[in-house]
Amino acid sequence: MEAYRIKVVEPIPITGRDQREEALARAGYNMFNLRSGEVTIDLLTDSGTGALSVAQQAAAAIGDETYAGSTSFYRFHDVITDLTSYPHILPVHQGRAAERILFSALLEPGHIVISNTHFDTTRANVQLAGCEARDLPCPEAKDIDGPYPFKGNIDLAALEEALKSPDADKVDLVIMTITNNGGGGQPVSMANLKATAALCRRHGVPMFLDAARFAENAWLVTQREAEYKNNTPREIAQAAFELADGCMASLKKDGISHMGGFLGIRDDDLANRCLNLLTATEGFRTYGGLAGRDLDMLAQGLAEVTDPRYLRARAEATAHLAELVTLAGVDIVQPVGIHAIYLNAGRLLPHVPPERFPGHALSCALYLEGGIRTVEMGSLFAGEVDEQGRLVTPAAHELVRLAIPRRVYTKSHLEYVGQVIADIAKYPERVPGYRVIESPPILRHFNARLEPFSTSAPL
Ligand code: F0G
Repeated sequence: MEAYRIKVVEPIPITGRDQREEALARAGYNMFNLRSGEVTIDLLTDSGTGALSVAQQAAAAIGDETYAGSTSFYRFHDVITDLTSYPHILPVHQGRAAERILFSALLEPGHIVISNTHFDTTRANVQLAGCEARDLPCPEAKDIDGPYPFKGNIDLAALEEALKSPDADKVDLVIMTITNNGGGGQPVSMANLKATAALCRRHGVPMFLDAARFAENAWLVTQREAEYKNNTPREIAQAAFELADGCMASLKKDGISHMGGFLGIRDDDLANRCLNLLTATEGFRTYGGLAGRDLDMLAQGLAEVTDPRYLRARAEATAHLAELVTLAGVDIVQPVGIHAIYLNAGRLLPHVPPERFPGHALSCALYLEGGIRTVEMGSLFAGEVDEQGRLVTPAAHELVRLAIPRRVYTKSHLEYVGQVIADIAKYPERVPGYRVIESPPILRHFNARLEPFSTSAPL
């Protein structure tokens, strides 16, 4: 059970089917255009949506809003220094600001960044810096049903090949995303991190962590990597940071706060270049776009997030939802991680071809049926679409992510979600496909507009 009780509650909107149909049509069938008042259970993201603890609220009250040198910054700084060992800690307002600053300081246009899998904003920022974002997930990751415990790993053989290829001098950076959000929320093993760090060192390429879910990765290591079963999640997280040359971290996830992030760097020169960009675009180095109270809530959140009792209860809640969904006959990416479950929409809706976005179709059905907001991670998110919105290359899998906010929903909320999924799974053939009617050039899934489209009509 959770090692906390609830002291402050917030009502959730209960809506009718007609209201949801109207809302979704107005939203251009895009979950990002819904208003929160139209959503009953919001599983769109686990980012910035966690519940604060009493200690975090108390910490906010002592937030020091001094422009330069606030004591809040030093509390934030000390907690992160203890966790990461990096000599330079730059606060930023969220993860993508850390990405933009690091890439502007480190990457040369025309060069390459390699990752186990870039998260979507990370990929967009690499591309905006004029570089190629190359994903090298381990071969086991392709089999989304298999039990392999560390599908977040990078493909070491492919990485070595890339670092020895004629293009090797163009590889500016290797990013290890822990856990691998774009790849089904799967963890990276410490063995894989160590081997990657050694390879990168040998070839003189910096290795950074995208550490948005560093504590959850550490928890899964305690459960799945025998060598670490007697270590605490905090010890494992410290060892992971120690292996890298630095990190970018969105603290909206494992900082259990609404806003925040940081850039951790070992190299003095690189840190100075980043510091100039930070000052020009985010804020002075002791606040970086955050309020003093944010820095204090983050310092406290970072102390709470590695508590094994918290991590175990969170992992078990996600596993419980996964079990309900599996019992309803709906396949999910295996093995289940912590921050989310990923439904295999392609398999549930075989009558909806990739060109009609089965993941999106299932996501819309979850909203229409039960007011549940989720996010598609299939061809709309990762496929290649031409200027008319037609799918040219589908994604490898048509998934829907149900991200679980931290400390927010109870078991009965998750059981409700399981029931709605089971109801849809009884008559999957009723779910229509969709077509894109408006599509921006990057980060399409945030801003596209779609409409339901008969699955039997010609394209
Ligand atoms: N890296 C990873 C692995 C992420 O999951 C995210 C955000 C970011 C970087 C960017 O951080 O939002 O603070 O700027 N992921 C959210 C999600 C948005 O829903 O998975 P940010």
